[in-house]
Amino acid sequence: MTKPLEGIKIIDFTHVQAGPACTQMLAWFGADVVKVERPGAGDVTRTQLRHVKDVDALYFTMLNSNKKSLTLDTKTAKGKEVLERLIRESDVLVENFAPGALDRMGFTWEHISELNPGMIVASVKGFSDGHHYEDLKVYENVAQCAGGAASTTGFWDGPPTVSGAALGDSNTGMHLAIGILTALHQRDKTGKGQKVGVSMQDSVLNLCRVKLRDQQRLEAVGYLEEYPQYPHGEFGDVVPRGGNAGGGGQPGWVLKCKGWETDPNAYIYFTIQSQAWPNVCKALGREEWIEDPAYSTPIARQDKIFDIFAVIEEWLADKTKFEAIDILRTFDIPCAPVLSMKEIANDPSLRKSGTIVEVAHPTLGTYLTVGSPIKFSDLDVEVTASPLLGQHTNEILTGLGYNQQEIAELHDENAV
Ligand code: COA
Repeated sequence: MTKPLEGIKIIDFTHVQAGPACTQMLAWFGADVVKVERPGAGDVTRTQLRHVKDVDALYFTMLNSNKKSLTLDTKTAKGKEVLERLIRESDVLVENFAPGALDRMGFTWEHISELNPGMIVASVKGFSDGHHYEDLKVYENVAQCAGGAASTTGFWDGPPTVSGAALGDSNTGMHLAIGILTALHQRDKTGKGQKVGVSMQDSVLNLCRVKLRDQQRLEAVGYLEEYPQYPHGEFGDVVPRGGNAGGGGQPGWVLKCKGWETDPNAYIYFTIQSQAWPNVCKALGREEWIEDPAYSTPIARQDKIFDIFAVIEEWLADKTKFEAIDILRTFDIPCAPVLSMKEIANDPSLRKSGTIVEVAHPTLGTYLTVGSPIKFSDLDVEVTASPLLGQHTNEILTGLGYNQQEIAELHDENAV
């Protein structure tokens, strides 16, 4: 079966997480992704957080599957010449170097589009072009702070808090993938390539748009009725941290289940969806609340929402999180167990759907990774091992037209 992106050639000049997450996804969908890495060193994640001596770290293997590796010193004359040949033959160049690094290397947008007018140059930066912080180097948590996630995450009596989800890194990579596919689609019509830029700050903010909604509501009326601060607490002039509040029209909270004293994840998330209120009452054995005007509407419940959560916790006290969900699902209540990474790793449904996959790697052995979260009716996404450093150098150089002697010279000059 032909894969959707088969025939698309991508120069993967990325490192760490944001860029590699983008190109990995395009490789899963069939693109021919050549990761360009510095000879002798490669992507820094090959050596970061290793758990097996002298073997590529999971940090690298879990973000670079289905790719090829070409070692190339793009600061040498010979290396630049190889990269130029590669650019002439490729469709997309993806990079997430520090601001200006590609230009300093001599690969400006003008130069690249001269070499190949159809080329799409896709970049991740911490901040967008022209931003007053455009010169900054940025990592995950910096982006979460700059994009509004940290100031709105955590509890009101604690400091700004970053999420365990890679909102700055992988999320930015996913935005970039959408940008690349859009530019490829346009190139099909115009024949012209273009620059695609995504900033980590913007990508985080794109996921925080409901908080910008709340800032405007707060300025208009002085309170936010779905936050735990309402109606008993105080509001200032900025969106507060809302703990585990639902954040939308449906109140919700993380609630303790049997065993919470010793198991840090013995909790469920419980949502009181307004139309499911009669079912919530039936599940809890509190049918009298269904018609009681003190409880029967969302507005009536607002000032006692934490008392209601306390009643639900009483109900949960003799049930594990899984037992509780098995009961609540029969009442059509939106809820889920809080799952640990151990539980996720062993979840039979995630294994069956290919969301958690086992990959065989030549030196690391078999490891788990997250497969494609996007499912297609006509594509089975196969996750293959990440390449060893420089594994495909000779193959790629041969494909670019270099003969054996020229390849040996490139090796001698440490250009590859
Ligand atoms: N051959 C020769 N030189 C190479 C090379 C190669 N194959 N690959 C990289 N280099 C050079 C770069 O040209 C750069 O040289 P310069 O500083 O002389 O211009 C140098 O290696 C270092 O690159 P840089 O990107 O500055 O790495 P860093 O480790 O100092 O910074 C980041 C890392 C992630 C902070 C930075 O790249 C960044 O801010 N990127 C944009 C945002 C981003 O993606 N953040 C990470 C999200 S996971």
